[in-house]
Parts: sequence; structure tokens; C-alpha cells
Amino acid sequence: MPLIRPRSSAGIALITILLLLVYLWTSSTSITSPTTPSPPLWRTPDYESYFWTTLPINYPPKEIRPLPTSSPLKFPKIQSPPPSESPSALKTRLSRQAAIKSVFSKCWASYKRHAWKADELAPVSGSRKNPFGGWAATLVDSLDTLWLMGMKPEFDEAVAAASSIDFTTTDLAEVNVFETTIRYLGGFLSAHDLSGDARLLRKAVEVGEMLYRAFDTPNRMPITRWDIHAAMAGKKQVAPAGLLVAEIGSLSMEFTRLSMLTRDPKWFDAVQHITEGMASQQNSTALPGLWPLVVSAQDQVFNVGDAFTLGAMADSVYEYLPKMSALTGGQLPIYREMYEAAMAAALKHNLFRPMTPTNEDILVSGSVKAENGVVTLDPQGQHLVCFLGGLLTLGGKLFGRQQDLDAARRLVDGCVWTYKALPRGIMPETFYMLPCPSSTCAWDEQSWKKGVLDRAKKNADEASLPDADAVIARDRLPKGFTSIPDRRYILRPEAIESVFVSYRATADPSLVEAAWDMFTAINATTSTRLANSAVWDVTLPMDKDAGMADSMESFWMGETLKYFYLVFADWDEVSLDEWVFNTEAHPLRRLLP
Ligand SMILES: *[C@@H]1O[C@H](CO)[C@@H](O)[C@H](O)[C@H]1NC(C)=O
Ligand SMILES: *[C@@H]1O[C@H](CO)[C@@H](O)[C@H](O)[C@H]1NC(C)=O
Repeated sequence: MPLIRPRSSAGIALITILLLLVYLWTSSTSITSPTTPSPPLWRTPDYESYFWTTLPINYPPKEIRPLPTSSPLKFPKIQSPPPSESPSALKTRLSRQAAIKSVFSKCWASYKRHAWKADELAPVSGSRKNPFGGWAATLVDSLDTLWLMGMKPEFDEAVAAASSIDFTTTDLAEVNVFETTIRYLGGFLSAHDLSGDARLLRKAVEVGEMLYRAFDTPNRMPITRWDIHAAMAGKKQVAPAGLLVAEIGSLSMEFTRLSMLTRDPKWFDAVQHITEGMASQQNSTALPGLWPLVVSAQDQVFNVGDAFTLGAMADSVYEYLPKMSALTGGQLPIYREMYEAAMAAALKHNLFRPMTPTNEDILVSGSVKAENGVVTLDPQGQHLVCFLGGLLTLGGKLFGRQQDLDAARRLVDGCVWTYKALPRGIMPETFYMLPCPSSTCAWDEQSWKKGVLDRAKKNADEASLPDADAVIARDRLPKGFTSIPDRRYILRPEAIESVFVSYRATADPSLVEAAWDMFTAINATTSTRLANSAVWDVTLPMDKDAGMADSMESFWMGETLKYFYLVFADWDEVSLDEWVFNTEAHPLRRLLP
């Protein structure tokens, strides 16, 4: 215990003033963290001797950007007023919510029995997998879902188990910094924001201290696939020359929230450095507004490359732009500017209306190549890119952009339509459709068949192709689809995520029915004796075996089931006007005026 021994009244006055200043400082910044008492409970004495805290830094930053201090803005509401609900509708909603919870409970019980503290349960064989460091990814990813579903005893048990996770040891040769950030850091921060449990912030700090060492490079850019053992040994490291843009561009929410909660700006500084580099090059790419899929951290080059997508490997870069605005109460205008420039390009170049047998007014987001000023669309849809409908809803509401809201709804409808178009009611990982030639989009069977044949020619090694009807039969192509390269469904959340956000923003009851249909379809196809499993082929009819892949990634319980549950929850449960979800569906508390 520190002893203060004032020797004179002047000393007493000085100390009083100092204490007052400390009090004012902590109380004025505590708006960022209503649940963190001060002095912070997470800073237990052993923090100073925690391995990652004591490891010397080879390339200390020259200066640390402070957290912004301007008053947060009052953004327009994202959520619509609640829908009115008849007693019978209430009953239906609650019974559906209970059904979703029962699927989660079954998965949790199996994880606990067969794979406790492993990263994943193998849902068919009942064995354990450790692809994410062996730090109990499923457990950490599920903490906030346990809390939201009211599973308090299970939550308490999980928090106690999480407290003993050791982030100073792993069998992995290479740590994926992005996955570790969104699943572990995001999981702890969210569970802390919801429950106020200081042990969870402490674990977030432990992960944060570890990840901070991935930024210990000459230019303070992170090593996204990180040789953690070299870092532990104190070796000098450099950032990679080629990496996926999502892996460097979407660390901002978690690092910033950690700084807001701990009042230590070093994490915010680390990610803001990346943001500034990306912002300054955003308009000088081959498709101004969007960043290429592959960038260089080593040279800080974010504008060379010809492939542009909002899908896999780029997605969350764009996702985190308006979400950073929401998280920080608009204190950093750069994020809004980046979002608006990115969406102007994406809406113009990436979105297309596919031709469907019922002439649906829907949109799909594809990828484009931009070479020598020529922009070419590759009309490939992905399950993953379904997040975009939710994101444009969020950005459209926050920044009052009607064009974003219009595109958002058509994208959400596109995802719902694609689920229904497949025989099991589930969208495959990837697919191709035929873009409408013009804004009038009448179904034309011959054009579709020609599209099927053209697509088959691109992929075929066989000299003589069968005719279109034979390809359609062989590949089980529903009308409108020209190819389905990846037939799996891996328990992904993005479609229900966008349905959830769109429902909260519009209160449109048809979205609730769409969500329930998705849930029953997914459960019917993926359910195993123990839990739920990724499947190999969702183009097979229900009377055929879709093929269990014996895989249940942590996002099934961390994201997919959480979003399903929240569709059927009370309207203000995790209100989008108070919370913002990271890309692993972990809600973080927004800074509000
Ligand atoms: C999920 O699917 C399994 C297998 O078809 C079924 O037994 C179970 O009742 C389903 N659960 C719900 C909540 O629909
Ligand atoms: C990029 O261009 C947009 C206009 O399209 C502008 O609003 C934005 O400020 C520009 N960004 C930078 C960093 O100059």
C-alpha cells in the first residue's frame, strides 16, 4: 500500500489538487466505459510481470496518437420504432426464440463435454480441433451469446475457465492476427461490455498485449500471419510485403475499444496509423474508392493491384468504416469519408442485378478487375458478401444516404432469394448468375442457357461440352444460376446478419419469416447427434445426404445463432442505437453523446 506522508500544509494542498485532477480525469473519461470502476480492476499486480508486458519492444513508436476527446455526435437512429405485436405473434416469436436457444444449448453442452477449452468441437466425430492457437476459440466466441441468451450459470463457468487461458503459449507456428483480434479480443471486449466483469477486460488486455507485439516492426505495420515464437524470443521482425487487405484493414474496432476501456491509447495509435495510410491512397487505386485485394504492409503501399471485391479477403475493411464512426460517436470524421468514397465506387461497379425466372428486383455483389481504365465485372456471388446489405443499412441510416438504403434492401432480398432458390433452402458458398443486360430485366431462358454454357466453357477441360440442359442437370443448377463452384454451407452468419440489421431498421415482418425459414432450413440440413456441422453440398435435394464435413467453426455459436436469436428477441435487446457489432458479431458499446 503506498504511503503518502505530507510534510507541510502546502504539500497537503498539492496532493489534494493532484487527487482532484486524477479524479476529474478518470471521471471525465469514464463516459467511454460506464462499467469500468477506477482504479481499474483488470490491472492486478501480476499485470506488470505478464510476459507480453515485459517483453522489450525493438521498434518503439516515436509518438502515440491520443484518443480523440471531442464530444460524440448524435447520429440519426438506426432502429425503426418497434413493430406492434399481437398476443399470438408474441407467442410465436417467443417459441421460435426458444427453439433457437435449444439448438445453441445442445451445441454448448456437447462442446463442454467433448471439447472443453479446445478451439472447436468436431460435431460428427466428437473430437477436438485447435486451429486458432488452442486458446478455446469457441468458448471465448460464445461468451456474449451465453450472456444474451440468459444462460448465467454457463456464462459464469465459461468466464472462470476463460480466466485461465494462457496467451503466452501455443502450438501454432503462425498466429493469424486478424482472426485472433476478431474472435478473442472481440469476444472478451463484448462479454465485458455486456456484463461489466473486470476479469474479461483483463483477458482482453492480455490478448491486446500479445497482438501489440505483432506491430513491433520498423514501420509499425503489423505482421498479419505472425511467427509468434520468433517474437517471443525477442527477434527483430518486419511486416510482410504481400497480404490480404482485410487482414490489415479491419483491426480498428477492437483495438480502439480496448484503448477506450483501458485509457491506454497505444492500441488505438497502432490501428490509426494503418487507417491514415489507407485513407491517403484510397483515391489513387485503379478503382478509386476501393483498395486492391492484396496490399503491402512492408512498403505501406495500399493502391497497387487490379482486383477489387467487397467479398472474401476484403470484406471487413469496408465493414469497419461506418462501424468505427458508430463506435467512436463520429469523433474521427475520416471513417465517414472513407466509407462514402468506398460505397460510391462499390455501388457503381460491384453490384449487379441478376436475371431470375420471376424477375426479382434484387442485387448481388460481385468482384471486378480494373486494368488500363477498363472495369470488368465477375458476376460471382458469395455467401460471405451477404454482410453488405446490413452494412449499407447501417451506413445509410447513420449518414442519411438513401441510395445506400435502397441498395441495402435489394441486397438483403437477394440473399433471401438465393436461400429459397436452392432445394434445401440454403445458399451455397459461391455461385454465378447472369447480370441483367439493362435495367429492364425480363427472364430469357435462352440467355440463361447460353450463360450456363459460356461459364462451363471457362471451367471445362473436356474438348466436347455437353449441351446446356445436360450441364444444368449435371450441376443441379436452379434457374438463374450459371455455375455453383463451391457447394458447401459452412454455418456462416452473413445472410442472417443482414436480415437482422434490416429488420431492426425497417420492422418489416416479412424479414422475420425469412429468418425463420433460414433457421429451420439450416438446422434441418446441418444438425448432428452432438451439434451442427458444415455440409459439402447444398444443391442436393432433401432426400439425399448433403455430406457432413465434421466442422463447426466458432462463428456458428458466436455469430450465426446469436443473430438468429436476436431477430426474435425484444426490440431493444442489443439496440443498434447503443451497440455496434464487430465482424465476429460481438456487440461493442457505442460512445453516445
Ligand atoms: C433441428 O434439427 C433436428 C434434426 O432434424 C431436429 O431433431 C430438431 O428438432 C431441430 N430443432 C429445431 C429447434 O428445429
Ligand atoms: C477521396 O475522394 C472523395 C470523393 O470521391 C473525397 O470525399 C475524399 O475526401 C477523398 N479522400 C482523400 C483522402 O482525399
